[in-house]
Amino acid sequence: SSVIEEPLDPFSLVAEELSLIANRLRLMVDAEVPSLALAAKYFFKMGVEGKRFRPTVLLLMASALNISKPISASTGAPSSVSHKLRARQQCIAEIAEMIHVASLLHDDVLDDADKRRGIGSLNFVMGNKLAVLAGNFLLSRACIALASLNNTEVLTLIVTIIDNLITGEMMQMKSTSEQCNSMEYYMQKTYYKTASLFSNSCKSIAVLADQTEEVAELAYVYGQNLGLAYQLIDDVLDFTGTSASLGKGSLSDIRHGIVTAPILFAMEEFPQLRDVVKQGFHKPANVNVALDYLGKSRGIERAKELAAEHANRAIEAINSLPKTDTDEVLISRRALIDLTQRVVTRTQ
Ligand code: FPP
Ligand code: MG
Ligand code: MG
Repeated sequence: SSVIEEPLDPFSLVAEELSLIANRLRLMVDAEVPSLALAAKYFFKMGVEGKRFRPTVLLLMASALNISKPISASTGAPSSVSHKLRARQQCIAEIAEMIHVASLLHDDVLDDADKRRGIGSLNFVMGNKLAVLAGNFLLSRACIALASLNNTEVLTLIVTIIDNLITGEMMQMKSTSEQCNSMEYYMQKTYYKTASLFSNSCKSIAVLADQTEEVAELAYVYGQNLGLAYQLIDDVLDFTGTSASLGKGSLSDIRHGIVTAPILFAMEEFPQLRDVVKQGFHKPANVNVALDYLGKSRGIERAKELAAEHANRAIEAINSLPKTDTDEVLISRRALIDLTQRVVTRTQ
């Protein structure tokens, strides 16, 4: 049988490179002041690095786009053997992870969270002030890495991620009751908060590889739809997951007054739910009323269906990439597809 039909684990495909990146990240965020270094490395420590989902996607994307091109005019070397390009693409994975962790540090301050990844959140352990500074510090180190890439298009894509993260967070924090009822508003916010990091960093991988605008757009569309599917399932799991398997309190969105896809769909079936949402969820009784409606509705199911739709669009983008018969490229594309399917079938 063909090598591309064998079962594979997307994470083990890039495991070695991931640990390389993990080591480098710890060096990249070292600081003169010991307590700042400690804070910046807090979530890069062994065991609390998280799933490293973003670097995994980006490294697989780099391999998936490694389409052999004509011999390079300037160096005479085939571009497929460019270690230099790979190092630059790894740098995108590092930058994406630094921005992600920075946003988590600030998010935990804003949410007044006490736990993250099974340990005390940085704000809880070292205080809000240090957590804010550590987040800013991670962003500054991400900027330094970005500058070293010397590519203005990539610079614009990556800074757009930060812009979008802030916009998404603001949209969630300050929304009118009309916006709270709007699926469109929710999807836009979700794109900014979660999917932009995937779309713009995937596109950056393609831009660094000097791919055509078409291929770069496919990378963007993959990231965008993977991110949307990921967040939709996250929102479903906030209702259906158990607090132990999620590592955080379940029903946390609704208890914080954050209206997500399952409730939005339930509201379409039961317009009475709009009044409950409008009253807010500071009253625990309202949470129970909303959960009652949700249970009677197809809200959870429809949110899962929407996630599956976006997953399919992500897979379609991968399948639309230029044809190739290089095993490594085919394996990586299959891993990206596999990863997408895992995102929508995951239970934690
Ligand atoms: C997690 O959301 C938070 C985000 C995905 C983004 C938060 C963005 C900011 C705080 C803006 C500042 C951005 C930067 C780059 C410093 P959540 O609270 O819904 O999920 P979680 O707490 O359960 O992970
Ligand atoms: Mg939070
Ligand atoms: Mg938050």
